[in-house]
Parts: sequence; C-alpha cells; structure tokens
Amino acid sequence: MIVATVDEHLQPHSRVVLLKEFNVKGFVFYTNFEGHKAQQMAQNNRVSLTFFWPSLERQVRVLGVAEKISETISISYFNTRPIESQLGAWASPQSQLIRSKDFLEKQFQYYKQKFGDNVPKPPHWGGYVVVPSSFEFWQGRPNRLHDRLLFTHTGNDWKIERLAP
Ligand SMILES: Cc1cc2nc3c(=O)[nH]c(=O)nc-3n(C[C@H](O)[C@H](O)[C@H](O)COP(=O)(O)O)c2cc1C
Repeated sequence: MIVATVDEHLQPHSRVVLLKEFNVKGFVFYTNFEGHKAQQMAQNNRVSLTFFWPSLERQVRVLGVAEKISETISISYFNTRPIESQLGAWASPQSQLIRSKDFLEKQFQYYKQKFGDNVPKPPHWGGYVVVPSSFEFWQGRPNRLHDRLLFTHTGNDWKIERLAP
C-alpha cells in the first residue's frame, strides 16, 4: 500500500510499505522509528493510504491517524521474520545518508557476528496501525462514469455518500 505523510513544511511524502495485517482497529505496517516517515508521523500522525488494483480498475483511499502498536506485538512479528531481514533492520539507519553500499554490508556482517542466531528486535523498529476515519472506494466504469463511494466514520456508524468521478 502507499502511505503518505506530511513534513513540517506541509510537503507530502508517499512511499510503498507492506500492509502486514488489517484488523478491527485498522491497517498495520512495520518500519524504522527513526526514518523520515516515522519522524513525520511523530509530528503529525494524520496519514493517507492508497491501494490500487489495475486489473480490477479499483482504488481504495483511506484517511486516518497512525498509532504505534504494542512492543509485544512488534516483537512477536519480528521473531517470525527471516534472520536476514532481522539483521537488515539493525544494519540500515533508514532514511539517513550513507557513504556507500559497502557501509551497509559491513553493518550487516557486524550485527551477524554480534547476534549469531538470536537477533533481538531493534528498539527503533516496530509497527504502526492506521486507524481509519474515511474510505473512498473507486470502481472504474465505462464512459468515465466511475463509482466513488465515500464512507465517513461518524461515532459508531459510517455515513455513505457518492462523489462525482
Ligand atoms: C514493495 C515495497 C515494500 C516495502 N515495504 C516496506 C515496509 O514494509 N516498511 C518500510 O519501512 N519500508 C518499506 N519499503 C520501503 C519504503 O518504500 C521506503 O523506501 C522506506 O520506508 C523509507 O521511507 P522514508 O524515508 O519515507 O521513511 C517498501 C518498498 C517497496 C517498493
């Protein structure tokens, strides 16, 4: 899915992340808490998500707020990941400028030596849940007469409205 955040200059930033789970609370993804998106969410936790299925001509847009999930859940998921991904989470100072690719390789080898077969979750890595406040479901139709259905959360219910394409 594409996650968009906004920085302190009101500049939007968007990037792809893996939607790991969705549950009754919202949409869960995992990342580095020191990268750009995490810094932006720490200042302003309003985000948007976009999903696109070209072959179905479908788009889903979500607005909501991002909240960190519990450390316990992040640890359980981290422990299921392949060891190379676990080491990668330690090796990469996400979003920072690095001198060369070699720097990453060396970091990787360093943490491999350090942790062996038991890699703990880095304190700077974990999950966010995006709690939705609105959804727009877009369905492509002939003659550009596409459907756009807007669901807005109103207390315990969802208001449903139609937007012009
Ligand atoms: C298919 C795909 C999946 C990705 N999944 C993740 C992810 O789950 N978490 C993540 O932090 N970055 C993921 N990335 C990398 C991000 O797009 C982005 O480069 C990175 O998170 C740094 O973004 P930032 O500097 O805005 O924080 C993925 C990229 C692609 C293309």
